[in-house]
Amino acid sequence: MKFYVTTPIYYVNAEPTVGSAYSTIAADVLARYHRLRGEDVLFATGTDENAQKNVRAAEERGLDPMAFVGEMAEQFRREWLGLNIEFDDFVRTTEERHHRAVQAFFEALYKSGDLYLGKYEGWYCVSDETFFREEELIDGNCPNPECGKKVEWIAEPVYFFRFSKYGDRLLEYIERNPGFLLPEFRRNEVVNFIRGGLRDSCVTRHSSWGVPMPSSIPDSDGMVVYVWTDALVNYLTCAGYPDDRERFERYWPADVHIMAKDIFTRFHATLWPAMLMAAGLPLPKRVVAHGWWTVGGEKISKSGGGVVPRPGPVLDMVMAETGCTRERALDALRYYMLREVPFGQDGEFSGEGLLGRYADDLANDLGNLLHRVLPMIARYRKGRIPKTSVPDPDLHRAARDAASGWERAAKTLDFRSGLEAIWSFLAAGNRFIDRKAPWALAKSGDEEALDRVLYSAVEAIRIAALLVAPVMPSTADEIESQLGFRDWQRSWAQAHEWGLVPAGQQIGRPTPLFPRQDQGGNAAAKVAASPDTSRSKEMPVISIKEFQKIDLRVGEVIGAEAVSGADKLLKLTVSIGDEQRTMVAGIATAYEPGDLVGKKVVVVANLEPATIRGVRSEGMILAGWVEGDEKSIAMVTPDRDLPNGARVT
Ligand code: MSP
Repeated sequence: MKFYVTTPIYYVNAEPTVGSAYSTIAADVLARYHRLRGEDVLFATGTDENAQKNVRAAEERGLDPMAFVGEMAEQFRREWLGLNIEFDDFVRTTEERHHRAVQAFFEALYKSGDLYLGKYEGWYCVSDETFFREEELIDGNCPNPECGKKVEWIAEPVYFFRFSKYGDRLLEYIERNPGFLLPEFRRNEVVNFIRGGLRDSCVTRHSSWGVPMPSSIPDSDGMVVYVWTDALVNYLTCAGYPDDRERFERYWPADVHIMAKDIFTRFHATLWPAMLMAAGLPLPKRVVAHGWWTVGGEKISKSGGGVVPRPGPVLDMVMAETGCTRERALDALRYYMLREVPFGQDGEFSGEGLLGRYADDLANDLGNLLHRVLPMIARYRKGRIPKTSVPDPDLHRAARDAASGWERAAKTLDFRSGLEAIWSFLAAGNRFIDRKAPWALAKSGDEEALDRVLYSAVEAIRIAALLVAPVMPSTADEIESQLGFRDWQRSWAQAHEWGLVPAGQQIGRPTPLFPRQDQGGNAAAKVAASPDTSRSKEMPVISIKEFQKIDLRVGEVIGAEAVSGADKLLKLTVSIGDEQRTMVAGIATAYEPGDLVGKKVVVVANLEPATIRGVRSEGMILAGWVEGDEKSIAMVTPDRDLPNGARVT
């Protein structure tokens, strides 16, 4: 059995956001689940580098495009590794192997007779890398409501793909293969799009940036393949097309292509299958569109304006608010994104939502189960797992139901339902302990009954760790280690078995999985306030009135100390005139507490207080930094001496 899953390949015009992380996390979860099932998984992701918008982004920064895309691709790769994404292949569309694949694919298209030379006259949006008809434009601009940017007039000889010919075949294919396009409501959108009539699609551009058309195709001098066509072929490149026949036969067709809704109907659900039909290649088995993550109702976009939550600062916020490790914060983010909204729907990304899930589902339901049981094993059984062979039938059934629930949901990428099934099982586990009251059994001296209850509870925890492993891999490792497993080989089949924890196994050191602190902090504000230079140019315009709502004051640092357990935070006492305030500032990478006393700073005096690492913070100190370089943090300080409390306007 093989399983080939893909994410879109990302434009490298700006750094990844939690939005781009969403598709990648979803694909990683599926890949991990299928690996647990023992399947031969190919999980491919990568970067879409041949777009004009990447060149523009490089030019804006005064950089050489090739050097720029290389550097950005590396950033994406590192970001995914940091999010515990276990991809098997990372393709860059500037790679030689991809050029080979695109050219071979175009030769196949040409042979099919469905490529013809024509002239394109029309509008092009560089931001969306999409051609539009005059009547599609809105006020002469790009009709995509998320874009609305100026379009450019293009008039050049190009190759067209005879897309119009494939309408009926596509409709028939969609009809015959109900699981091909998901979710279902999007399938109807695609059907309507096709019924509205497909226009032949322009598949080349005149440019020096991109994959050159194969020289065997006549009159294609100076032409490169249109970036969308080139990008879609990446799915073949990763499967070994065209040279590695063995790999290609093994992995193609892909089992699942994952992407957001905006690139579904026009590209992945119609153009791509039609081109594959023309080239005589099998179609992917599933093409699945998820929704958009938004902030304030606006799509989170790499290069867009407004607040751009990026994974790093979001994880920092979770760590600061809860005191958990980076690994747990990451698993909380992965869990939150898949649990919070049904795959396919839009969702509003919020720090409060994430911390809410952390507190209720992770610390409470999952963490509690572990932390109730392990101390009892330590206390009543000297830390050794008791021996018994009788499973609790209800709990055993609940475990099997949860495993089957996840399996069903994974087929249609319904992650939310899959996690709900697992969480019903965790609730059953917690109820089991309430009902059986092992502490009462210990008191009454019913040793056999106590063994049975403790063993069943431990089994439930083992299965829970396995079930959550695709979504929260490091948490599963930690739970298993606390259960005393060393080098345990997980496999999905173990979710249906009972009695795998060896009797007599010595449990590990119980440590809080998802530690809790005051949850009342202003998480949304902190996600929004994460330092981020890349969005500065495109911040929304605000009125003077809105600006005046911010009470900026000159303050003087009169005390500074480290915050225990947080190497980036300092606790400062700041005098702002008549008042002294405590403020927690993430500046410890750049300042020693001793450097700060006596320094004049600028503070936001009317920021909603938040509790960070147990310290109540009553304001924010302004500082700038070069993104990614924590040593560059520099506090804002008045140019001349001003009294404490003086207003800054
Ligand atoms: N390069 C094309 C895709 C080519 S695939 C053959 C592209 N790139 S992109 O950088 O704009 O990334 C698009 C993908 O990033 C979306 O399809 C989606 O998977 C993910 N997302 C980017 N922002 C997102 C949200 N705000 N919410 C959800 N997904 C997001 O289009």
